[in-house]
Amino acid sequence: MRYFIDTANIDQIKEAKELGILDGVTTNPTLMAKEGITGLDNILRHYKKICDIVGDGDVSAEVISTSFAGMINEGQRLADLAPNIVVKVPIIREGIKAISWFTEREIKTNCTLVFSPGQAMLAARAGASYISPFVGRVDDITWDGIALIKEISEIFNNIFAETEILAASIRSPLHIVQAAKAGADIVTCPLSAIYGMLNHPLTDSGLKKFIEDFEKASASAKS
Ligand code: G3P
Repeated sequence: MRYFIDTANIDQIKEAKELGILDGVTTNPTLMAKEGITGLDNILRHYKKICDIVGDGDVSAEVISTSFAGMINEGQRLADLAPNIVVKVPIIREGIKAISWFTEREIKTNCTLVFSPGQAMLAARAGASYISPFVGRVDDITWDGIALIKEISEIFNNIFAETEILAASIRSPLHIVQAAKAGADIVTCPLSAIYGMLNHPLTDSGLKKFIEDFEKASASAKS
């Protein structure tokens, strides 16, 4: 299981990098807007900054256009920024065309807004490097986001798809564990969900007891 963080926040990306567990970053127009990054030049500069921090890991940068020509144009500008840019393209007809075009030119793509196995299969056929099924948003409408990951994983195993399953819209530590069980290759989530994996009351009480016992023993050795 690899860990991407789903943010455009520079401090969080640096923090994840320092933890030593950062395999990549995903962003989307909503996350960029949340950081107050507007205007093409600023957006491109921000992506470049993210790529420099992440180093070897992939950074997904999303196109806004919905036409083939627009996606190609934007995607090329993004891909020129750094070798670790992955062009994020929505799963629409023009998007499939764009993914095929980028694949032919060995530009990596992340097919986003995937909510069904059929969408995932077409994106894989077009050569997407990653597909992003949105687990949390499926759960939001009382369907089962993790079941979607499982279904896509079974299909990808059957058809020997090389496309990786990047479980997105992951919002909790439980989602991360369930996505791993269901066959996701990567999760992308807020850093808080990753930190949540550390929490266990027996760890806290066990650590407290170790420190108390050490201190008691040290005090009695002194007296
Ligand atoms: O990677 C997709 C993700 O940003 C969507 O997450 O929580 O807005 O559904 P969310």
